[in-house]
Amino acid sequence: MRGKQSSSNPICDGHRDEFGVGYAMQGIGYAMGPGPVLKVEDLRVSFSTRRGVGMAVNGVSFEVKKGETLGLVGESGCGKSTVALSIMKLLPRPPAKFEGGRVLFEGEDLMAMDEEEVRSYRGRHIGMIFQDPMSSLNPVYNINFQVAEPLRIHQGLRGSALVDQVVTLLRRMRIPAPENRARDYPHQFSGGMRQRVVGSIALSCEPELIIADEPTTALDATIQAQYLNLLRELQEDTGVAILLITHDFSVVAKMCHRVAVMYAGTIVETAEVETIFNNPAHPYTQALMAAVPDIAAWKGHLSPIDGSPPSIYETHRGCPFAPRCAVVQDRCREEAPPETQRAKEHGVRCWLHV
Ligand SMILES: Nc1ncnc2c1ncn2[C@@H]1O[C@H](COP(=O)(O)OP(=O)(O)OP(=O)(O)O)[C@@H](O)[C@H]1O
Ligand SMILES: [Mg+2]
Repeated sequence: MRGKQSSSNPICDGHRDEFGVGYAMQGIGYAMGPGPVLKVEDLRVSFSTRRGVGMAVNGVSFEVKKGETLGLVGESGCGKSTVALSIMKLLPRPPAKFEGGRVLFEGEDLMAMDEEEVRSYRGRHIGMIFQDPMSSLNPVYNINFQVAEPLRIHQGLRGSALVDQVVTLLRRMRIPAPENRARDYPHQFSGGMRQRVVGSIALSCEPELIIADEPTTALDATIQAQYLNLLRELQEDTGVAILLITHDFSVVAKMCHRVAVMYAGTIVETAEVETIFNNPAHPYTQALMAAVPDIAAWKGHLSPIDGSPPSIYETHRGCPFAPRCAVVQDRCREEAPPETQRAKEHGVRCWLHV
């Protein structure tokens, strides 16, 4: 019973209270479906540069169910955006190369499709929200044109039906006076409004999955809270599955049902959000949690993780976290640990738990 658990972590419970809802703990309005919307299996992606061939994503597997938000977290450079962009086949090739694995969207392998087939999924079935709204919006077209485009292409809307739908979508994302503001250009909108426009575009064709890569990093705290509330409401209404990439554990606490923790191109732990906050099993997840600012009980110091993640161009035999791990054993340097299931939704890749 998730709702009965108490939390010792102030970020987890405190922020939920602050935002008014213990989202994941309360469950969600929309029933989670039995099969995953997205299933990533043993995904491997490399980059070839002058420095050599580096494995940026090295055997990543996870799934996201209908109505669920999966958080993908980990230090900078661990491969989160590479995973997100690979799913949509949006990485530049070269330098990127798909080395293996499957990305099943409702059972269909996107990796086995040609560009034209994948394009029919982008926007229509899979919406994307990236960190910098300016890079997602085209400065030379007005907002109306950009929100209307996927509706024209994927839903065949024209004329007044199209105009009405654009206004409805902008209103749903709380853009004030959308009938008039739709004629504006991106530079005439604030950063928060631009991000909400990107959200409107991502949601325009009622996709089954949204991939959001650091969607709120550029927003101030108030706009961020509003934006996340909107995403959550929309998920409750439509059951959209969300893959949410973030560095911010207050965003994780507010939004996510489950969390996958990534380190050096692999997922080292996957668990329900309460477990990640209150009972993490992998030494890396424990170290990440110790590095999260505890605002409620601020004592003036944090515990950063010593050292830095390995370069993708380095090869290592054992666990990639071994050089920084406080509880490292000889075996960790020799052999990579397999994934073990600690509980139904709790997988961990560490010799301590084999
Ligand atoms: N186009 C590229 N060419 C070469 N290397 C790349 C390219 N894109 C990413 N990389 C490398 O792949 C690794 C993973 O990068 P990625 O952007 O996926 O990390 P991330 O987890 O999203 O980091 P952040 O939290 O900073 O956004 C990094 O070592 C990065 O330098
Ligand atoms: Mg990134």
